[in-house]
Amino acid sequence: MGSLPDHVAIIMDGNGRWAAERGLKRTAGHRAGARSLRNIIEECVRLQIPYLTVFAFSTENWRRPRDEVDNLMALMAEFSRSEAEELRNAGVRVIPVGCTEALSPVAREGIETLSRMTFDGDGLVLLLAVNYGGRADLARAARRVAEGCLRGEIDPADIDESCLRRYLHSYPYPDPDLIIRTGGERRLSNFYLYQAAYAELYACDVYWPDFGPEDLGVALRAYQARSRRFGGSADSSREGR
Ligand code: IPE
Ligand code: IPE
Ligand code: MG
Repeated sequence: MGSLPDHVAIIMDGNGRWAAERGLKRTAGHRAGARSLRNIIEECVRLQIPYLTVFAFSTENWRRPRDEVDNLMALMAEFSRSEAEELRNAGVRVIPVGCTEALSPVAREGIETLSRMTFDGDGLVLLLAVNYGGRADLARAARRVAEGCLRGEIDPADIDESCLRRYLHSYPYPDPDLIIRTGGERRLSNFYLYQAAYAELYACDVYWPDFGPEDLGVALRAYQARSRRFGGSADSSREGR
């Protein structure tokens, strides 16, 4: 068996369908999803996984009805407040990835406070992808590189993959090794477009609110059974990525 991934990323999908199957409102699904998130963070801490990204709100999720968006913002604020102490005690460091400036003031405030409170965590790094879009991430990076060029700090001839990487939201953290999508869809939905280049993809039909530590275990074992070649041949290492 191979080793555990350093960086697991999860597209937490299926809250709405989970709720619909129970005759509940979508908001009840999101609330149940927050409980699932809590359990999965705890399990990643236990397994000593260094990095976890969770995709909580995409740049396209603004297209949802106003009351659902409002509910999601309120839930982010509530989660940030209610989990802060426990996350800090567990040594988790929370880093928001995405344009948090555009979130509702309560959600923004909550997430920024959580990030400040956990600043010196030396265990799991939890990247919270909120108002995140892979294309927006790349466009923002391009803008920041262009600004660097205008200031004379970057020579356009030096712009390569690693230069671009430094301007992404997820910098300086490593690319995900494993991307899990719950809820049955097989797509990235604009998540981590640059960062996903060599991630192992794992999709399962379990709705996010039902996804527990055992399901994570199944995904991790599937990952460990994969052969990662990074374009090389079977026995080449990650060197030269
Ligand atoms: C994921 O669940 C949560 C967010 C995208 C915010 P969904 O709300 O997308 O649930 P489904 O896909 O409609 O079941
Ligand atoms: C992806 O789920 C985004 C998050 C889980 C935050 P969506 O439910 O928004 O994706 P689509 O619309 O099915 O592609
Ligand atoms: Mg969905």
